[in-house]
This record gives sequence, structure tokens and C-alpha cells, in this order.
Amino acid sequence: MRKKIVAGNWKMNKNLADAGTLLSDLKSKLGQVSGAEVIVAPTFTNLQSTVEALKGSNIQVSAQNMHQAENGAFTGEISADMLTSVGVQTVILGHSERRAYFGETDALLAEKVNTALAHGMKVIFCFGEELEDRKSENHFKVVEGQLKNGLFHIEASAWKNIVLAYEPVWAIGTGETASPEQAQEMHAFIRKTIEQSYTAAIAEEVSILYGGSVKPANAAEIFAKADVDGGLIGGAALDAEGFAAIAGSF
Ligand code: PGA
Repeated sequence: MRKKIVAGNWKMNKNLADAGTLLSDLKSKLGQVSGAEVIVAPTFTNLQSTVEALKGSNIQVSAQNMHQAENGAFTGEISADMLTSVGVQTVILGHSERRAYFGETDALLAEKVNTALAHGMKVIFCFGEELEDRKSENHFKVVEGQLKNGLFHIEASAWKNIVLAYEPVWAIGTGETASPEQAQEMHAFIRKTIEQSYTAAIAEEVSILYGGSVKPANAAEIFAKADVDGGLIGGAALDAEGFAAIAGSF
């Protein structure tokens, strides 16, 4: 049985004190949630304090990004070793904001994936088409390309450390959500694509999250779809009550 997962991507929000408040609210509200793995992804400066704050809870911690190199002269960057040294075992790679604003390409992401896996980390690999791609009916092709060029070089055995997050760019932070049918259609396509390049068992086992304006009001409907295994939540993850409601939507 593949895992149900709800991950909160805090992006560049919450200073140390605000993150502490959100975490303690989350811990009390998420106590009752079962059936889904819960992950929070605060910014770099809050990672260590978040790991500390969540000790003994069942909430896991992810970074939002990392550099592909082991170490060296890369001013402002953070390595996999630095993340694992503070107890962070998961990293989000390929978020559309990293691709769009920081020029991250499929080739670069392939390197980052390799580095994260080499350090025994779990990767939440994000991808998704832009509005023009969908309008021109190229969305399946774009998604297939992002997967094949950024991820499908990994060995079959590495898939146990991969979570996928399909996030159509037109639905991120816009209030516009893919319909449950659109999400299901793409998730089924993703699973089929994995099956064709790897095996049916790998395709069946990997959790595929949907992301893009998921809220308490629409989460249950989206998560009910057969190939949707949870969500990557942005805006709504900044509010403990809303995030807990989403995590409890299965
Ligand atoms: P959103 O962001 O929920 O605010 O649309 C999702 C994401 O970027 O992961």
C-alpha cells in the first residue's frame, strides 16, 4: 500500500518565533490525524529548530531546496551534508518557483536528485505544466519530459526514496485548482509513464501528491481520486487549523 502524505511548503514565510508558534499549534492539532504521513518544509534558518520542536511527534521535516555539490565555493548555498547534519532527511527539489525564478533546469535537478539520494535522503520531486502548455494540449508531453529528463535516470532501487508532486504552475498560489478529474487524469498518466520506463510495481508504490491551491474546502475531493496520494500545500500550510484539516481529509 502506498503512503498517503500531506506536506506543507512554507516557502519564504515565518521567522524563528512565528515558526515556533505554528509548530506548537500543529503538534496539538495534528495529534489526532492518522492515516497520513505529515511533513513540514520550513526555510533553511528554521530547519534545526523545527527538527528540535518536532522531536517525539510524528511530523517530519523537509528542506525546500539544496545545492548539488558536496561542498565548496558556492556562496549562499546549502549542501545535503548540512541538511542531514541537523536531522533533515527529506528535500523538495524542482519546485516551479525554483525552476521559474532561479533558473533550475531538468539537467540541474537530475544532479540535485543524485546528490540527495547519495546522502540517503528522500526527495519530493516537483514538476508540472504551465498554463500555455495546457491550453496548447502539451501538458502530458511537458510533464513526461520533466520526469524523463530530471528523474528517470535513477536506478529502480532508488524509487523507494522518491515522492512525486504534480503541481500545475497555473494552479500554484492562484486560487485556481485543477479539478479532481484533471488531477486524476495526470496522476494516472504519470503512473503509466513510470510503469513504461520501470515496472508496474514501482509505479504502483510511489506516492504522487497534487499541489496547487489545495485548501480544507477542496482537499477531500482531490485526495479521494484513486491516483492522488495526498498534497503539497503552500499557502494553506501556514495556518495550523487549515493544514490539520487538510491532513485529516483522507
Ligand atoms: P499553493 O502552493 O498551495 O499556495 O498553491 C503549492 C506549492 O507551491 O507547493
